[in-house]
Amino acid sequence: MVNHHHDVPFRLLDKQYTFTANDGTPTNSTANRIIHGDNLEALKSLLPEFEGKVNCIYIDPPYNTGEEGWRYNDNVNDPKIKKWLGQLVGKEGEDLSRHDKWLCMMFPRLKLLHRLLANSGVIFVSIDDNEIATLRLVLDEIFGAANFVTTFIWEKRKNRENRKMISSRHDYVLCYGKNKAANKNLIKPLPMDEAALARYTNIDNDPRGLWKSDPATAQAGHATENQFYVLTAPNGKKHSLPSGRCWIYTEDVMNEMIRDEKIWFGAHGNNVPRVKTYLDAKDRSLVPETILFADDVSTNENAKNDLKRIFHAESVFETPKPKELVAHLLKLATNNDALILDSFAGSGCTADAVLTLNKTTGSNRRFILCETLDYAETITAERVRRVMNGYGEGSKAVSGTGGGFDYYTVGVALFNEDNNLNEEVGENAIRDYVAYTENIPAEMQCSKEGSVSRYALGVSDTVLWLFYYELDHITTLNLDFLAELNINALLENGGKRPEQFVIYADKCALEKDFLYKHGITFKRIPRDITRF
Ligand SMILES: C[S@@+](CC[C@H](N)C(=O)[O-])C[C@H]1O[C@@H](n2cnc3c(N)ncnc32)[C@H](O)[C@@H]1O
Repeated sequence: MVNHHHDVPFRLLDKQYTFTANDGTPTNSTANRIIHGDNLEALKSLLPEFEGKVNCIYIDPPYNTGEEGWRYNDNVNDPKIKKWLGQLVGKEGEDLSRHDKWLCMMFPRLKLLHRLLANSGVIFVSIDDNEIATLRLVLDEIFGAANFVTTFIWEKRKNRENRKMISSRHDYVLCYGKNKAANKNLIKPLPMDEAALARYTNIDNDPRGLWKSDPATAQAGHATENQFYVLTAPNGKKHSLPSGRCWIYTEDVMNEMIRDEKIWFGAHGNNVPRVKTYLDAKDRSLVPETILFADDVSTNENAKNDLKRIFHAESVFETPKPKELVAHLLKLATNNDALILDSFAGSGCTADAVLTLNKTTGSNRRFILCETLDYAETITAERVRRVMNGYGEGSKAVSGTGGGFDYYTVGVALFNEDNNLNEEVGENAIRDYVAYTENIPAEMQCSKEGSVSRYALGVSDTVLWLFYYELDHITTLNLDFLAELNINALLENGGKRPEQFVIYADKCALEKDFLYKHGITFKRIPRDITRF
């Protein structure tokens, strides 16, 4: 199971159509994708283009409540796991392997998500008590315990659920970075909201402007000796420290602050001293907190009502998340041009969050969504279309965000069951795949019209990659092939003579010593040549 992501076949993504919002809607991102298909295959298909390039992942997988009707369907060989195929995953007590099934479903998908995430990226995963313990361990294993950022608690409802023994008011959102140590700004501070700004006043007409007062004492744990003293106020009143506290400044510094009128003793000068914190002096931002209140990021019920408004009062999807929740997480972890991936897309709330954020902040965030069920078109893509064009009527009308997306299905596999190339996918797709497996960065890849050779696949300062492939005949690496290469074209373009050559062909007619002497690595094209 832990290596199942390796067994999943590489498939090509088949573009079905492009959607662009109506004229007159705002400018918004159009480089978005919605993929209909199992995310195990869809994520694998995204690797060649997007490995290490996704800035933020938000996923909301099945919680494994026993009521979602999800089935384990991965094409695995292990006979113990095969027994689970297609079976409905049941409730606690009824289905003793339900946690194993969920883990087997999630593990390879999280492995692929890890590969897709950029080094500076962040993943958020919504979950509840059914699987939080398992999920934390899996994420620790795949992303590394050192990359754990936090477990957010989201207040998902505001009213009490009286039918239950205990009313569950929250879900969790687990958050990990790809490389926390190397990215100090993984989570960004939030701009100050109106309530926070309202705490700044200027009752003493301080020429330095608006301020609020903060405690002048701190916990005494790490204090030095000169932070313990009796403070004398300007009116002569003595202020002793409460037990277990110290002053935040030494006596000298504190007295200077008092002379400078930066310590506040209340309107009559008799109150416990507090420090004045100036609005201008602080960068106006708030450190994000671990509790996400419904008043700030909305509730499940609101999300359902919002979705109903989009679909003319029809309830089309049972478990949507509020777009405000996702937008909040995106603000914490992404820049304006971020690429965001949601591989359990459901009703497409992540796309709604991205588009709405772009519309309100002028950003250009992009999204990729994957959804396996047939409603990928009728609910996921349809919601996105409606959000882009606008929906609702009269006073309830919501104007469009603009934007566009390409809709894909997961297409044919690149390899047949005998591990040979499926040549029906075409030469360009095969070349792209080989370039990906050889780790040739996009900027080093060559087109078939390049001047070195029509078979050149990529060139770096030291390596020239060649893919000597013809659909209808066998190719042989020999001296004639090498003589045809126009290496001078590289030198004329300011490049260097390659020290190594990686050459794919069906056969090789050159001796091992010759290959070694000229730095040539021969790789056989994996295809069935018995047909020629
Ligand atoms: C809890 S819902 C997500 C809801 C979404 N966050 C929203 O706000 O609408 C989980 C979604 O993941 C989809 N899903 C489950 N397994 C999947 C898979 N293997 N590949 C792609 N989608 C999958 C389900 O069909 C379902 O729509």
